Amino acid sequence: MNSPQSQDPIVSEQTNISADPLQNERVLVLDFGSQFAQLIARRVRDQNVYCEIVRHDIPAESVIARKPAAMIFSGGPSSVYDQGAPKCDPKLFELGIPILGICYGMQLTAQSLGGAVQACPAREYGRARLSISNMEKLFAGFPSEIDVWMSHGDQVQKLPEGFETLAGTTTCPHAAVKHHALPIYGIQFHPEVSHTALGGTLIHNFLYNVVGCQGRWHLSNFADQTISQMRQRIGSDRVICGLSGGVDSSVTAALLYKAIGPQLTCILIDNGLLRKDEQSAVIREFTDHFQADLRVVDAGDRFMSALSGIRDPQEKRRRIGHAFIECFKEESLKINGAKYLAQGTLYPDVIESGAAPDGPAATIKLHHNVGGLPEQLGFDLVEPLRDLFKDEVRKLGLELGLPEHLVWRHPFPGPGLAVRCLGEVTRAKLDVLREADEILITEIRNANLYRETSQAFVVLLESQSVGVMGDSRTYENAVAVRCVNTDDFMTADWSRLPYDLLALVSTRIINEVRGVNRVCYDISSKPPATIEWE
Ligand code: XMP
Repeated sequence: MNSPQSQDPIVSEQTNISADPLQNERVLVLDFGSQFAQLIARRVRDQNVYCEIVRHDIPAESVIARKPAAMIFSGGPSSVYDQGAPKCDPKLFELGIPILGICYGMQLTAQSLGGAVQACPAREYGRARLSISNMEKLFAGFPSEIDVWMSHGDQVQKLPEGFETLAGTTTCPHAAVKHHALPIYGIQFHPEVSHTALGGTLIHNFLYNVVGCQGRWHLSNFADQTISQMRQRIGSDRVICGLSGGVDSSVTAALLYKAIGPQLTCILIDNGLLRKDEQSAVIREFTDHFQADLRVVDAGDRFMSALSGIRDPQEKRRRIGHAFIECFKEESLKINGAKYLAQGTLYPDVIESGAAPDGPAATIKLHHNVGGLPEQLGFDLVEPLRDLFKDEVRKLGLELGLPEHLVWRHPFPGPGLAVRCLGEVTRAKLDVLREADEILITEIRNANLYRETSQAFVVLLESQSVGVMGDSRTYENAVAVRCVNTDDFMTADWSRLPYDLLALVSTRIINEVRGVNRVCYDISSKPPATIEWE
């Protein structure tokens, strides 16, 4: 998240953007440790309103100095009644600035103003049906019932004086509340995740109907601002950019090429963990659409020996991150030393690695190009997309002229097939995965469902099971097929693919991929599962 204390020139660029008088309509998101704080900010920016994330304990004086149009209190993992639970400056409630409390933010607001919060009899995670009883400003234009996404163990039991209920679910009577005179609202569900129906409309209603925003911020400013800031920062130094062929690194390279042209060298490291025929596909794509210098490094042996005997997912990620940096250092020497290393790191990578400066969010995974990097990097990092979400990056890619099929490629993680090969990674297991993955993607494309599915892949499990093939007993591996639908990869639901397609994929994998005799379909949403298995 964008802490106000951040020193990173790329991260702090939004502070400069907000200096533009056209964008002085600012919303502050107070982060109480939510995985979704940046997602809230992103939903606000979707409504063309500039938004910054700040720490939950920001003093009221600093809030006043920023002149926000509104504040949104995020969710968080704590219980408001826990000792040491994050609080806000109580004076914030007296400023007359509109407040929307979400989940923990609502509970804290209720508790601070004299209400009561308790553990709910039944914890609620996932979808819930919300009945709306008051359609005024916040729910203007809503039907009387919608599906919302809940993720909580506590709820407001007694409203503070002056509050009324706007909506509830069968297990959460006060799921949306407001003060009858002050512009203070609270909602127990998460409007920021794409699985809450009309979540964007609710945020729009808060910003435009309650706060009275005009909508003055636009993503198109971002490319120009970023290019000129990078040009200024890099000067005449050289930059190497790790290229994976995915949209993030491609957009990073495109921005950099516009900023510094021939000072940029792109490097594709084939770590032996890529999908089938991926190296040649990336080279073809690159030469068709980019003019920058490209070097390809065959580093499969190095990565395989780094991974030898390693089973722990975090350790795998750490070793892969280190091996990447070693490769980049060697390549940098060949071009007389690059000062900067550019990466297509996105905000979810930062937040889920627990790497956001001063951010209280928990570490979910060591993203290889954030938490998995060695301390002594030997490069300064350039990460122009560090504040953006995948869907924003895609929009930016199209604005920069990248072709649709590249912009809409499914993401592929930097640690590659290593995190889809549970337990120790071996060449034999990788071969199984490559074949199975190729079948899945081919059949999804044949069914014209590639674009509708956000990400699809196969995971090689560590469990064997008994089967019967051609009258003989088999005892072979199971694979899991994971297909998800999501906009931003922060939350996701499993794809409801047609049974016939799943049947075809299963039959083909079992018949054609040696060593696999069972195919399972992963029907977990994120949260509580993540998209990748490791
Ligand atoms: P998770 O598994 O955290 O994944 O729900 C969210 C998205 O991020 C991708 N992912 C990664 N991408 N390096 C990457 O470049 C990584 O270390 C990494 N880990 C996860 C994942 O494929 C999904 O699209």
